[in-house]
Amino acid sequence: MKILAIESSCDETATAVVEMGDGVRRILSSVVASQIEIHKRFGGVVPEVAGRAHIECIARITRETLDESETALSDIDAIAVTARPGLIGALLVGVNFAKSLAFANRKPLVDVDHIRGHVAAAYLAHPDLAPPFLAMVASGGHTSIIDVRSYTDYALVAGTRDDAVGEAFDKAARVLGIPYPGGAEMDRLADYGDEHAIKFPSPALEGGEFSFSGLKTAVINHVHTCEQRGEEINREDIASSFTRAVCDGICRQIALALDKTGRERFVLAGGVAANSHLRASLSELCESRGIGFYVPPKQLCGDNAAMIGAQAYYEYMAGVRASTSLNACATGEL
Ligand code: KG4
Ligand code: ZN
Repeated sequence: MKILAIESSCDETATAVVEMGDGVRRILSSVVASQIEIHKRFGGVVPEVAGRAHIECIARITRETLDESETALSDIDAIAVTARPGLIGALLVGVNFAKSLAFANRKPLVDVDHIRGHVAAAYLAHPDLAPPFLAMVASGGHTSIIDVRSYTDYALVAGTRDDAVGEAFDKAARVLGIPYPGGAEMDRLADYGDEHAIKFPSPALEGGEFSFSGLKTAVINHVHTCEQRGEEINREDIASSFTRAVCDGICRQIALALDKTGRERFVLAGGVAANSHLRASLSELCESRGIGFYVPPKQLCGDNAAMIGAQAYYEYMAGVRASTSLNACATGEL
């Protein structure tokens, strides 16, 4: 079946047409209109500005994705939309647009959880991947280790007590003078530094959860101490040591979660899954334990609508249909 998907939970407006079915997982088109340039000058996403920017382009990029996929709206079998979690004003734009489009054109509407969508990006990249498996969604807003029992049965294994991992990357980058969002630049800088140069605290808590605020503060303190002493800041060493602390902490909690759940496959997803060091560390961990490792290509790690369309297919097959009373929700239950 062909699904038109809409995503507007944060700072990317995205639309896609995917074809899903028995043995078929195909992206026919995927358009992402990023607002990064708009939010850069504020050093982070401004929710009100994000909502307005979604309104400005959602109709245009929906037309664009239909044209690119050479699909008429009449050939679309269902419309999918991210309804939770995310910035409420941003989510509402996509939800109301999708509701109008679905009901005016008499198409079934499927509401999708953004976190489930991130995991579903792996289905598009790996045709044979099927639950059960352990997954981690690491992004700007989320740090969740999830037991994916079936396509529509998710159980949270561990999360973060404070900042999300992507947020920690972006905040550490900011201290180093790197513009928002600095995660990708931290990844690049880390290639050139010494990962043992600075001892940063682990974000892994006893029991399996995460806390990134201590690590973030340690980076800020390190930079301030260098400045006070008149020492030059080595950005590469900081990026590299920070990244090592993040990767080791995540590997430790994933190892615990694998022990706890007994799963034999692991999926890494979300914007931070684009991090080359994290991909390498987790790939090594999985290899050493004989666990299958799955990660989407980098362009499917960040927010996009193809992943929402992919998850919508499984929700649709499980009987999920949204009505005109569908509302957006800032928080989600998975
Ligand atoms: O999934 P995403 O696009 O949006 C959310 O749902 O939050 O993730 C965006 C986050 C940002 O914090 C960004 O800095 C981070 O992913 N990110 C990275 C890399 N590429 C994007 N963090 C570390 N290394 C990267 N290569
Ligand atoms: Zn996301």
